[in-house]
Amino acid sequence: MKVLIVPTKEIGAKIVALRIEGLIRINFKVVLGLATGSSPEPLYDELVARGNQIDWQDVKTFNLDEYVGLQPNHDQSYRSFMDKHLFDLIKIPNSQTTIPNGMAANIELSCTKYEDAITDAGGIDLQILGIGNNAHIAFNEPGSAFDSRTRQVELDEATRQANKRFFGGDIEKVPTHAISMGMATIMEAREIYLLGWGFGKSGALARAIEGPVSPEVPASVLQLHPNATFVIDTMAAQQLKHPDRYTTVAQF
Ligand code: F6R
Repeated sequence: MKVLIVPTKEIGAKIVALRIEGLIRINFKVVLGLATGSSPEPLYDELVARGNQIDWQDVKTFNLDEYVGLQPNHDQSYRSFMDKHLFDLIKIPNSQTTIPNGMAANIELSCTKYEDAITDAGGIDLQILGIGNNAHIAFNEPGSAFDSRTRQVELDEATRQANKRFFGGDIEKVPTHAISMGMATIMEAREIYLLGWGFGKSGALARAIEGPVSPEVPASVLQLHPNATFVIDTMAAQQLKHPDRYTTVAQF
């Protein structure tokens, strides 16, 4: 595991976007694992800004999660989020973008098929993650087993509270369940970038980076990954006890 402390989220986003661009230049058939929420937004802005510099034709994407019970065209579905922030703004064929189906009649079967689709695509080359205030990754809430795979999960009260801002502040409108890639699914990605911005994430990040590896702190599992990098801004690094141990980017 590596930690990169950057002065701003825009600089962090630029560094990760450059890595994605480089990977696609080397191998057109890159498989990306993508996240939603506010953390990856600057990255998607940066990828969109790079426009024709990136050839998206053969890239495949798999998203981490989707709410159960929201139609894909619901304005808060993760499909809508991805279309709005990335897919509709770059030249990637729609058929190559995959998001868990929160409306599946048989959710268990659709989760198995999701795992199969990732395997058939050759596995995830590069995975983007955000982190919840409770240190969740995807919707793997505290207590999620390290060997878990894509499945239906119940959202923590804390997660629903944090996400109600997207539902007009009304927690009743936030779905209670989601489909989420599992901890094992995420850990199989060949390269992982977890993006964390702002003081609000500093407690979760300190526990994930410097605390014991434990299912109670899901993001701590990344300490065991051979090629995972936490890209965090200065405010998000505030509660680290040993900031001197990590790489600090002064300017870029
Ligand atoms: C979203 C996801 C979640 C978020 C996390 C942080 O696809 O997997 O784990 O990354 O809840 O959300 P933001 O970035 O909105 O603070």
